[in-house]
Formats: sequence, structure tokens, C-alpha cells
Amino acid sequence: MPRVFISRKIPGIGMQNLRKFTDDFLVFPYDRPITENELIENIGDVEGLLCLLTDPITRKVIGAGKRLKIIANYAVGYENIDVEYANKRGILVTNTPGVLTDTTAELTWALLLACVRRIVEADRFTREKRFNGWCPTLLLGSELYGKTLGIVGAGSIGTAFALKGKGFGMRVLYHDYYKNEVLENKISAKMVGLEELLKKSDFISLHIPLTEKTYHLIGEREFALMKPFAYLINTSRGAVIDEKELIQALKADRIKGAGLDVYENEPRIPEELIELPNVVLLPHIGSATYEARNKMAETAAENLIAGLTDKTPPNLISIPNTL
Ligand code: GLV
Ligand code: GLV
Repeated sequence: MPRVFISRKIPGIGMQNLRKFTDDFLVFPYDRPITENELIENIGDVEGLLCLLTDPITRKVIGAGKRLKIIANYAVGYENIDVEYANKRGILVTNTPGVLTDTTAELTWALLLACVRRIVEADRFTREKRFNGWCPTLLLGSELYGKTLGIVGAGSIGTAFALKGKGFGMRVLYHDYYKNEVLENKISAKMVGLEELLKKSDFISLHIPLTEKTYHLIGEREFALMKPFAYLINTSRGAVIDEKELIQALKADRIKGAGLDVYENEPRIPEELIELPNVVLLPHIGSATYEARNKMAETAAENLIAGLTDKTPPNLISIPNTL
């Protein structure tokens, strides 16, 4: 019976399916992210690893997994895994795309609306018992209707997010390597270069994976191109923005505001960012619905079981070259 290690308790049916598949099944007992050393200690004779985006699946960890066949990440992003090295060693790597697309797109809208209509600030104001009656100038924000939405990365989450923008009557620009027929046909979105998108958009939302190419994609030069009334929303990965430059841009009012669900060095958030009034900050909850987290668990378990029964997992990241 294949030995399986799960780096943290995950919800529902995914666990049940794994229990049905094998009795040789260990879950890291603590409700906190596992460390690199703890992974190394636990992975020795494991064949299937189910891990989280907070787990450093480094060369060292992969090297310690002498019998490892598959690494199933409980996330759509997988920059926490040295995929190239795993593939070199003939180990399969999978993720959980698709099942969290709408949930994450919805959270992105929640964050955008929270920024532009000052929801967090308004809630605090009300609880502080400062509401003395309707006022013509109280907590004014901006209207979305007729404004320009700029999507950086028109993959599945970027696309789902943009489509929902049609409901608000927004004009959509997007930047990607490939033409997105769905966006062009359904909502007449226009593909543009990054520079044009940054210059023309009132709201910019990032939906790109973290790679060597996207690291600090948004930095000093990019902030300088944005409109002074632009909002930047990020529910992808923190390090696609140069966080120091973002803080400078917000401090100098070079942009109007930002909504962040992700940070460059999670879970650390710079004190300077926490103190700024023109940001809404969330604790990486893009995929945090019961529906998505359950389906992610089911998908990760399905991938893991496929990999351990010599079938092709549905969400293989790339075909490994066996040595
Ligand atoms: C969440 O951030 C994910 O990559 O699934
Ligand atoms: C808002 O509540 C209004 O009546 O203008």
C-alpha cells in the first residue's frame, strides 16, 4: 500500500478519498505551515506527497524523498515547488486549477469594491458611532460604470474576473502573450501592451503566476505610468509587485489606492504598508470558500491517487523526463 504524507489537514472529501485509497496515511499533526526540515524528516519513505503553497518543496526536500512518485500541490500556484528538479528525478507534480477560478475572481471583486467604496473604512467609522446622519460629502468613492478595467494575465482567473466586469458596465483592456477569444468575443475586451494598459486603466488587477519573468513586474517605472486615480488590485502572488515601490507610490499619492490579498514575504507584511490609509489588506483568502477548498482537496487527492496508480493525473504540470 503506498505511503502518503499530507503536510496539513485539508477539508472534507479529499481526505476521505485518500483514506479509502490507503491506510498508510500520515497527516502533519500541527495546524501551522510545515518547515523544510520537518518535510525532510517526514518524506523519507513516502510515495505520495500532498502539500500546500506555504511548503518549501526545495531540491533538498525532493532529494530526501527516495521513493517519491508524485507531489500534489493543494493550490493553483506552484512556485513553492522546484518543478524542474522534481521532473528531472521522474517525480510528477500537479496543481488544482479550475476549481477555484470563480471563487478567486469573486474575492477580487470584493477587494476592488472594498477599495473604491471605502467599505472597510466606512465600517470602522460606523462602529465608532460617528454616523450622525446622511451627509453629502461623507466617504465618497468612485463609480465603476464606464471606467476602464485593466487585466494583467488573462488566464482562467483573469478571464472570469473580467467577464464579471461586464455586469458593472466597464470597458476591459487585457495584457497577455495570447489573444483571448472569450474576452474579445463576449465583452469586446482589447488586448494591449503592458505600458498602454497601465496608462489607460482606472483599475488594474493582476492575475499572473509568479515566475522569473513576472517577479517585480510592477515596479517604480510601472507605478509612474499609472493614472493618479488608479487602483491596483493583487490576488495573485505578492512578489509580482515590488512591495517597496508600492509603498512609495501609495505614500506619495502617485496612485489612489491598492487592494492586496498577497504579499512579497508572506506572512510578513511591512509595518509601513499596515499603517497606510489607502490600502485594503487581506490574509491570502482568494480561494477561501467552502466550495473551492473542498474541490481543491478533492482534486489534489484525485491527482495523487492517479500518480500512485500509474495513471496520468488530470492536472499534471509538465511531463517529467525520467533519468
Ligand atoms: C492560492 O493562492 C493558490 O495558488 O491556490
Ligand atoms: C442615498 O441614500 C440617497 O438617497 O441619495
